[in-house]
Amino acid sequence: YERQDQRLPKQRLLVVANRLPVSAVRQGKDSWQLEISVGGLVSALLGLKEFDARWIGWAGVNVPDEIGQEALTKALAEKKCIPVFLDEDTVHQYYNGYCNNIIWPLFHYLGLPQEDRLSTTRSFQSQFDAYKKANQMFADVVHEHYEEGDVVWCHDYHLMFLPRCLKEKNSNIKVGWFLHTPFPSSEIHRMLPSRRDLLESVLAADLVGFHTYDYARHFVSACTRILGLEGTPEGVENQGKLTRVAAFPIGIDSDRFIRALELPQVQDHIKELKERFAGRKVMLGVDRLDMIKGIPQKILAFEEFLEENPEWRDKVVLLQIAVPTRTDVPEYQKLSSQVHEIVGRINGRFGTLTAVPIHHLDRSLDFHALCALYAVTDVALITSLRDGMNLVSYEFVACQASKKGVLILSEFAGAAQSLGAGALLVNPWNIAEVAASISQALNMPADEREKMHQHNFMHVTTHTSQEWAATFVSELNDTIIEAQLRTRQ
Ligand code: G6P
Repeated sequence: YERQDQRLPKQRLLVVANRLPVSAVRQGKDSWQLEISVGGLVSALLGLKEFDARWIGWAGVNVPDEIGQEALTKALAEKKCIPVFLDEDTVHQYYNGYCNNIIWPLFHYLGLPQEDRLSTTRSFQSQFDAYKKANQMFADVVHEHYEEGDVVWCHDYHLMFLPRCLKEKNSNIKVGWFLHTPFPSSEIHRMLPSRRDLLESVLAADLVGFHTYDYARHFVSACTRILGLEGTPEGVENQGKLTRVAAFPIGIDSDRFIRALELPQVQDHIKELKERFAGRKVMLGVDRLDMIKGIPQKILAFEEFLEENPEWRDKVVLLQIAVPTRTDVPEYQKLSSQVHEIVGRINGRFGTLTAVPIHHLDRSLDFHALCALYAVTDVALITSLRDGMNLVSYEFVACQASKKGVLILSEFAGAAQSLGAGALLVNPWNIAEVAASISQALNMPADEREKMHQHNFMHVTTHTSQEWAATFVSELNDTIIEAQLRTRQ
């Protein structure tokens, strides 16, 4: 989609996601400090020069008073962000409950929580009600800011109800919805008590996008098997209305990482890390501390590798960055203690007075420190049990132009479909196989590493986040034009 006439105003894009790309910290009654977080979506949209984009989302904080809300709304407006205010109980039931304790594990093939299955269906139902209520609150804010001709792009599993809420009030709104997680096999999706509601609501969108072709196919099968609708090569047909369904694999802003490596502060970090780990190979894991990332399995595989390869014991170190996330959800709290316990045991077993085999950090690193870490890594270990895409693998590749290290990648990450030929693919549940891959990666000859790296580097630098966003929005515009032409015929 190209604007032929540069004098025309840019098309407005309303990006709706659960979380705004800003963290807000209250300074006083009516003042807020904002910090922008540059994730994949933000950098993708910064690259969309032909659109005038603004964000709608939850600010991530509870602001019960009107003065605070007004002040935050004003501060966010400068960043082109519009807040949705959710009260504490809604956050608890919608975000901690339905989103992160129900949909998230189910979509990653980890099942439904036992207590919801066994005890009352009431708790499930009240979480689902809160989910619908929260989605309606997002819709109300969108309607308030919508102008004719705007494109509304809804993101992720938190907002599966949003397309329906938007279209119910205004059927002319152009709505796209994109899922950042896997969409599971229809056999898994059908376990959800609200399986029909969610599918029907998503189908209200004009264009529905997924990271991989498999996820798109699973969604279409769920619509045919659970709703009895017709799947076509273009998408799903429902009473004469076609919802386009397609794969749009996301990428990263690779230039941002490549440029960062030239900065003096990053070079200094690189020098320090090289000195710190001189004589040892560096293996790296960077994950949110989430069940889907397979962190315990990864650490156990590293233990098995050390057990079977004693000659490597003081020659390799695993740096695991585990960024805390969703800490109010009990499953995440349990995981944190489990990981600490395993790391402690292995360090006790293989550590010496001067060195330990695993450095485990419970926090995020700033962007520059992260780039330096990627650059000095010999082997990246990404063992997600399921992962929509996994952009850590892309970030690692972008920073490896000189080192040409090895990527060990779970076959259950969406990224395996794009970087598979340049990685050692593993089944993360198979601890022995992951241990053997660690050995293969550490012993891999330079020419083989170089070949694999080139394949990945080419992919990561050409399939960027900007290209992803531009393709989705232009496809959404085309879909709507085609639908209009069809109804005129
Ligand atoms: C995944 C989801 C995102 C989410 C992110 C961080 O990548 O797809 O929508 O924002 O995790 O999780 P959080 O719950 O902290 O927003």
